[in-house]
Amino acid sequence: MAASIGRDTQSSIYRGGAVGRKPLVPASWDALEAAARASMSADAFAYVAGSAGREKTTDANAAAFDAWQIVPRMLRDVGSRDLSIDLFGRNYPSPVIAAPVGVLELAHPEADLGIARATAILGIPYVASNQASIALEETFAATPGASHWFQLYWSSSDDLVESLVGRAEKAGAEAIVITLDTHMLGWRPRDLDVAYLPFAHGLGIAQYTSDPVFRRLVADRIASTAPSSTPRINVTVLRTLLDMSRHYPGSFWSNLRSKEPRTAVDVFLEVFSRSSLTWKNLDFVRSRTKLPILLKGIQHPDDAELAIKHGADGIIVSNHGGRQLDRAIASLDALPAIVAKVNERVPVLFDSGIRSGSDILIALALGATAVLVGRPWVYGLAIGGTAGAEAVLRNLLAELDLNLGLSGNTRISDLTPDILDRVAR
Ligand code: GLV
Repeated sequence: MAASIGRDTQSSIYRGGAVGRKPLVPASWDALEAAARASMSADAFAYVAGSAGREKTTDANAAAFDAWQIVPRMLRDVGSRDLSIDLFGRNYPSPVIAAPVGVLELAHPEADLGIARATAILGIPYVASNQASIALEETFAATPGASHWFQLYWSSSDDLVESLVGRAEKAGAEAIVITLDTHMLGWRPRDLDVAYLPFAHGLGIAQYTSDPVFRRLVADRIASTAPSSTPRINVTVLRTLLDMSRHYPGSFWSNLRSKEPRTAVDVFLEVFSRSSLTWKNLDFVRSRTKLPILLKGIQHPDDAELAIKHGADGIIVSNHGGRQLDRAIASLDALPAIVAKVNERVPVLFDSGIRSGSDILIALALGATAVLVGRPWVYGLAIGGTAGAEAVLRNLLAELDLNLGLSGNTRISDLTPDILDRVAR
């Protein structure tokens, strides 16, 4: 990452203003969220912005950042700065990773291709979601040479798990992120109130419908069940059938006549996750890939210890942006004890609640090796596709770069708890 990304981004925005060019995306969080809301359907915005229950976990994530302040130091020659980090034997130009986010077609038609391209431009790893709108082979191939990771939701079918991990490795993924906290979907009132789950409409299941094992499960289901009657047609049913047929591989017209798209949604809803998983199950994936495995969703130091014991190469401290368990501990509050327990045996990454460059600085100072960012770039994608997602991520990196220098530091490794002050709450 050029050391000047902060000043370059800032001056490009200000110079643009002098010739009447407005920035593509707002730099302030509230304006960004408002602009994204205006760019999306009400159902889509509810799905992306919503969290579990009364959204107290999301509130806690924000409040946890408010409990820390940065203590700046002066006259330390911060003219040249370096945002790069080393992770799993590679050098990445910044400590930012694009979190896996599903069903991106709700934000923009470019969907996963949009964020894959935006991250490729910035040298940020792109974590393909298991709930993607576009199959991983297509997004990886569209951004050759970029850093690709894959996020796994542990299906109730081990064959499917094996197939997904194998596909990701074959397509060039550098790491597998296993999300542990979504073995059931959280209780999400914003979605429940509009009775909208994208997967039930055939959206966000492209990793499945492109998978040979999943397709076999669908074919087996069709062969083994008595012909089901076509649902009574009304406008909503028709729209759902059209959605499913559009999203299923193959010709739209033959999909419309076939039972496959409907059956695929049923099979997906059954095999998507497994609540009976235990730590022992991790050996299965461990034995099937040579890639680094990161476990995402860790919030307790003892779980971090178990993760290492069961062969994890990295830990992602995350509460899924507050989307799973309401009134849970803030992810940032969980971070220091986990960092202490892990004691540098594996990298500890942080996710949930990053909204600004200073938030990144604080998470890194508390011991994270890198951070994952989700909703901010989804909002950028909603506003302007690839360019919008890129602009949001660039703004975050620019603010991080400037604040690194303004705090009196030049390298990510300078960020330690010593640069922070705890606010009494
Ligand atoms: C799935 O990962 C979701 O948070 O909706």
